[in-house]
Amino acid sequence: MANQVERQILQRSDFGYFDIWKTAIEERTGVQITPDRERALSLLLNRRMTEVGCLDIDDYMNEALDVIRGAKEWSDLVDSLLVKETSFFRHRPSFEFVSQWVKQTVSSKHFVGPLWVWSLGCSSGEEAYSLAITIERAMLEVGRKPRFGVIGTDISRDAIFHARRGIYRKSKMAAVDEATCGEYFTQVGKQLWRVNADLRRRVCFLTSNILTDKSPLIRRKLHLIYCQNMLVYFRRWKRRELVNQLTEHLDSNGCLMLGLGELNNWNPHGFTRVAARSVQAYSRVKNIEQGEAQ
Ligand SMILES: C[S@@+](CC[C@H](N)C(=O)[O-])C[C@H]1O[C@@H](n2cnc3c(N)ncnc32)[C@H](O)[C@@H]1O
Repeated sequence: MANQVERQILQRSDFGYFDIWKTAIEERTGVQITPDRERALSLLLNRRMTEVGCLDIDDYMNEALDVIRGAKEWSDLVDSLLVKETSFFRHRPSFEFVSQWVKQTVSSKHFVGPLWVWSLGCSSGEEAYSLAITIERAMLEVGRKPRFGVIGTDISRDAIFHARRGIYRKSKMAAVDEATCGEYFTQVGKQLWRVNADLRRRVCFLTSNILTDKSPLIRRKLHLIYCQNMLVYFRRWKRRELVNQLTEHLDSNGCLMLGLGELNNWNPHGFTRVAARSVQAYSRVKNIEQGEAQ
């Protein structure tokens, strides 16, 4: 049986109530609330209203959607609504490509370090730490000093809080083999492992909304932008628009990596898709030969 608040939400859905919320969420975060997620939104609103002790749906909406007064409530709501699923070395072929790309890039006589990498939509940090491990190993393998930094950004404050702590359940570290675990993690609890301080120092995390905050580096361009499993929640035209903007933050030898199939038929001026079909990576046209060699 729907309670009082849920009844109000369901009644209002006929009058565009969901449309107001859905529009606000999409305009502010880019994330689309598809019909199959409306029920989740209704339950979430119901729960939040109960938690804050508000019984009137209009009062709640006016407060939560107010950009200044509702900032905290809005951020909590968004935090609960976003899909933050992630894991270490989530897409293995992409990390293999990163390793090859790093070796090639830092071996070039034109390369001036340090190497700057952006993990965009990094959730609780597994992706950014996986990148840092991959990059450090690749640099050492070609005899370079590991001079690099990884910046992880995400709209979710909660995810960034966890990312900064760098503590993970062993059950969530299936893709981290024993050698990597021993080298980069320390056990800090019964089933808990923490990323070692040396690696944590290489990775910096920021709460940031890609729709409003753009690049995390102000004066520098990035060498690698790694953005996977975030754009899938955005409309296609929005993905295209965002990715076009991302290319502006890339160094002239930079590379942009997306999740496989997240953006089809994207042919931006001056960029070309590189590498094998199992990876969706782009670099500037002058690097075609470099890309094809891989
Ligand atoms: C499914 S997770 C993907 C995590 C990681 N990239 C991976 O592939 O494992 C998507 C992440 O995108 C973040 N996100 C969604 N909209 C965002 C926005 N507008 N700005 C920044 N991050 C956003 C979410 O908070 C979530 O953590």
